[in-house]
Amino acid sequence: MTNTETAQNGGATALPGMEDQLENMRVSGDGAPSEEDEDIVNPWTVCGKADTGIDYDKLIKRFGCEKITPELVERLEKITGIPAHPLLKRGIFFSHRDLKAILDRKEAGKPFYLYTGRGPSSHAMHLGHLVPFMFTKWLQEAFDVPLVIQLTDDEKFLWKNLTVEEAQKCAVENAKDIIACGFDKEKTFIFADFSYIGQCPQFYQNIALISRSITFNQAKGCFGFGDSDCIGKIHFPSIEAAPCLATSFPHIFKKRKDIPCLIPCAIDQDPYFRMTRDVSPKLGFHKPALMHSSFFPALQGAKTKMSASDENSAIFLTDTANQIKKKINKYAFSGGQTTVEEHRALGGNCDVDISYQYLRFFYEDDEKLAQIKEDYTSGKLLTGELKAILIAELQKLVAEIQKRRATVTDKVVEEFMTPRPLKYNF
Ligand code: TYM
Ligand code: TRP
Repeated sequence: MTNTETAQNGGATALPGMEDQLENMRVSGDGAPSEEDEDIVNPWTVCGKADTGIDYDKLIKRFGCEKITPELVERLEKITGIPAHPLLKRGIFFSHRDLKAILDRKEAGKPFYLYTGRGPSSHAMHLGHLVPFMFTKWLQEAFDVPLVIQLTDDEKFLWKNLTVEEAQKCAVENAKDIIACGFDKEKTFIFADFSYIGQCPQFYQNIALISRSITFNQAKGCFGFGDSDCIGKIHFPSIEAAPCLATSFPHIFKKRKDIPCLIPCAIDQDPYFRMTRDVSPKLGFHKPALMHSSFFPALQGAKTKMSASDENSAIFLTDTANQIKKKINKYAFSGGQTTVEEHRALGGNCDVDISYQYLRFFYEDDEKLAQIKEDYTSGKLLTGELKAILIAELQKLVAEIQKRRATVTDKVVEEFMTPRPLKYNF
């Protein structure tokens, strides 16, 4: 039925009776924005129209998610008993789906788990990738729940020009960076699709179950696939969706279907889970909840996200102290004035200044950060001085990760990646 109707319908038009679902799922037709002035945000492209970057409030409306309000942050603090992470306090994690339901469960003593992931396309992760993982680590500590991390080596095999072996190698290298963020081995299971599908029949069965519930037409509407995309890509969303079903991890959750997950990720990943939220109730599972972060911007400015495919847009976790310094001095877009005199007179614009924007993500001290903003805006602090603060901060952060990563042996990776019960009883 679906095949012929899809063929007749041609593009991303809804099938009769499916309009409601598609309403929730659609990114924006063929992946391109429907209006010219709309920002493009999907798993493959992030591009804002304004110098200040993506309009996140508009995105919340378009995607149909909810804003994380100060009241919600306060409730989260009350329930967990610890102060909110800076990424949450500063509104970098800005949007959610069903976070309230997760907090209700925590209050009622009912379990949930955390699910996040990484598409291992390169050996080195960059600072942007660190954002969801640092936050996930904090969530794991705040809630004390199991965490599963999917490494989609198959996704990168399908999308990038990588061999199976290269994609698998990247997955192991990335796992080391992720482990270096400080996850607790007793509470964390990391898996790569190419190997886990063979290790766990229930995972593949869930993938098949999900894929049967999504038509080609829906996948097109949601992800913008075209006629010349290989069928592996079209099937892939069911693989990213499957870890939202607790039964994909029988070694952790046994046969329980009633345990929902909370997914911290940047908002580019939302289409996968918008789709999953439509499918999972039909299969007898909870909808996954989400917390979305905004993007860590490219060095060149807030219009695009930091991306591994553009060397000079990104600071990698493998960069040396000197490379960090050079990249920031050379590329970090400045919101300052062209001459010292002008800068002293007019001040800098923190909204577009990449050095200030980066400090918002990684500078711990709230008071000092506010002082930096005030001084830069008034012209007291010069661009070179602001860059020096950022350089020192990032050199420290990257050095710490590199130091911890050096202690992550192949054996440690194997331990994290072995299907096994975690320290929770289900
Ligand atoms: P990937 O490898 O593109 O990105 C990994 C995680 O990092 C986020 N991210 C960013 N966050 C802030 N600023 C940036 N500049 C930035 N760039 C990337 C992504 O949103 C993501 O959270 N298909 C996924 C892998 C995956 C996954 C998941 C991600 C599988 N299951 C569940 C999140 C949740 C991918 O290729 O991610
Ligand atoms: N479910 C576990 C139990 O049965 C403990 C647990 C895991 C939990 N995650 C949770 C309890 C989240 C409350 C909230 O004891």
